[in-house]
Amino acid sequence: MACRIVVLISGGGSNLQSLIDAAQSDQLAGGSVVAVISNKAEAGGLERARAAGICTACIAHGDFDSRESFDDALKTEIDQYQPDLVILAGFMRILTPGFVRHYLGRLLNIHPSLLPKYPGLHTHQRALDAGDPEAGATVHFVTEELDGGPPVLQAKVPVCDGDTAATLADKVLSKEHRIYPLAACWFAEGRLTLENSKAVLDGTILPQNGILFDDLP
Ligand code: GAR
Repeated sequence: MACRIVVLISGGGSNLQSLIDAAQSDQLAGGSVVAVISNKAEAGGLERARAAGICTACIAHGDFDSRESFDDALKTEIDQYQPDLVILAGFMRILTPGFVRHYLGRLLNIHPSLLPKYPGLHTHQRALDAGDPEAGATVHFVTEELDGGPPVLQAKVPVCDGDTAATLADKVLSKEHRIYPLAACWFAEGRLTLENSKAVLDGTILPQNGILFDDLP
């Protein structure tokens, strides 16, 4: 059965676009983005979704008095679309344990660092401040630990003289657009699963940092 994907966003939605493009060019094993939900009405990604004819909704976190009530409303909206996979694509809210448990094994996130380095915010500046020779992004299954779930795929970029947080973010984003559709495709093909808290591809437990995209044939 074709994989039904719901994407959660908070911003510009360039990762969302890469998923829409992948679906449209049949690179998601027949899977498709069936809805896009934002916690911000002004998120540019909502316009990208509308332009692609995809259902959109905004659930504004400010309208709720607790994380639990926001996440409950979000869950109700998401579940209307009966998703096989929920993708966080620049969704800048911390999710409650109950929400994460509800989608465990079908909830992916992309984080702009080489996890386990730099969970949380300001990842590129932190990589620069540390003098790291490389930066990157990680697709991982979401678990209750913030940015701590098992990695699936990582991509690296070199940090060059003169790089700023902004130039690094651009370089990393272009890699994000390669690895997120690929991980979603593996999931849609039924090849990628979460088993006993480990990411598993084709029956094999993935290495601790996931597969390095740059090593793929
Ligand atoms: C991406 O760089 C993504 O990795 C990051 O937000 C950006 C969203 O860009 N996500 C996080 O920082 C989550 N903690 P986009 O809206 O253009 O896809």
